[in-house]
Amino acid sequence: MSTSLLYLLVPVGVGVGLYAIRKLREWQWGWVRNSSSLRGKVYIITGANTGLGFETALALASRQATIIMACRNMDRAGDAISRIRQTTQEGELIPLELDLASFESIRKFAEQVKGRFPSFDCLINNAGLAMRTPQYTTEKHEIHYGVNHLGHFLLVDLLKDNIRANGARIVVVSSKMHEKGRIDFEHLGQWMERGPRDRTNNLYNNSKLMNFYFARELYKQGYNVHVLCPGLCHTDFFRDYNPRWYHYVLFSPIVLFFLRSARQGAQNIIHCATDNVNTEEKNPVTGYFVTNVQQTKSKTKFDEETSERLWKESFKAINA
Ligand SMILES: NC(=O)c1ccc[n+]([C@@H]2O[C@H](COP(=O)([O-])OP(=O)(O)OC[C@H]3O[C@@H](n4cnc5c(N)ncnc54)[C@H](OP(=O)(O)O)[C@@H]3O)[C@@H](O)[C@H]2O)c1
Repeated sequence: MSTSLLYLLVPVGVGVGLYAIRKLREWQWGWVRNSSSLRGKVYIITGANTGLGFETALALASRQATIIMACRNMDRAGDAISRIRQTTQEGELIPLELDLASFESIRKFAEQVKGRFPSFDCLINNAGLAMRTPQYTTEKHEIHYGVNHLGHFLLVDLLKDNIRANGARIVVVSSKMHEKGRIDFEHLGQWMERGPRDRTNNLYNNSKLMNFYFARELYKQGYNVHVLCPGLCHTDFFRDYNPRWYHYVLFSPIVLFFLRSARQGAQNIIHCATDNVNTEEKNPVTGYFVTNVQQTKSKTKFDEETSERLWKESFKAINA
């Protein structure tokens, strides 16, 4: 074989190999195959204007559902609706303002939902963030605890009668990072600086563990609740970390093997929102969550005392 042919075949071979690996990964990450109509069903999605919430809204609208797009910024909600409308004319898209960092906003939102859509079918607690510098909610809780956990806790509490009356489903978007979390009752709701050895954002991890504990308690109380991790996804989530193009080059193996598109990650949310996932053996109380569009056992050893105490502390915080 001539050298020039080798120069051509090696990069082509590497390219084809990498492409095949990527396709295999995408297949392993799973897709929702069910495309049955959801006409008449009402879904509430927090943080529906971008990322996973947006992709979920798009997919459910394509299946003719009505989506309440619970967003903190109405311009961004409007933009998201225009983008969805470029793809599908199906479904109904209703923007409603919800800032999970403000109890007043959450209460106002819940009143509107109760008045206009009292028999909604599913609440998707998707909105979430990770911050590098101290930030607080209106009620002075540090932002990860305040938005990712407490805001959704209050929302469910305010809507609980409707959820119970309709047997509505609750979908909790947690993360596999919950396995690195810890519930620190001494500093609940307080900003804690990252230690020099901390490689990930503990406050975020803790809030995602709280999401899981919340789902467990809801399940114990008889709610139809599903908890999931979407996997590492390319969304606006890392905006506060300001990733640059060379980070993607530097981390290209991670990108290739681990970084999913928002559409792919959202499959886990869509699965939980539209399919019956929990079983007697596999559910949030037995430590199962959905990832790769299937039930997976968490490595966390959940502790009932922590579970119940977190509920009580959260209840106290929303009624303070
Ligand atoms: N991306 C990942 O790799 C990954 C991995 C595991 C779990 N997750 C979880 O997936 C969920 C969605 O994240 P994403 O990746 O789609 O991130 P994203 O693209 O940043 O979207 C987050 C959404 O949450 C909204 N939000 C933030 N603060 C809010 C507040 N105070 N009130 C109401 N809405 C608020 C954002 O609104 P604005 O656009 O107005 O800021 C945005 O719509 C989060 O719960 C996250 O923890 C993500």
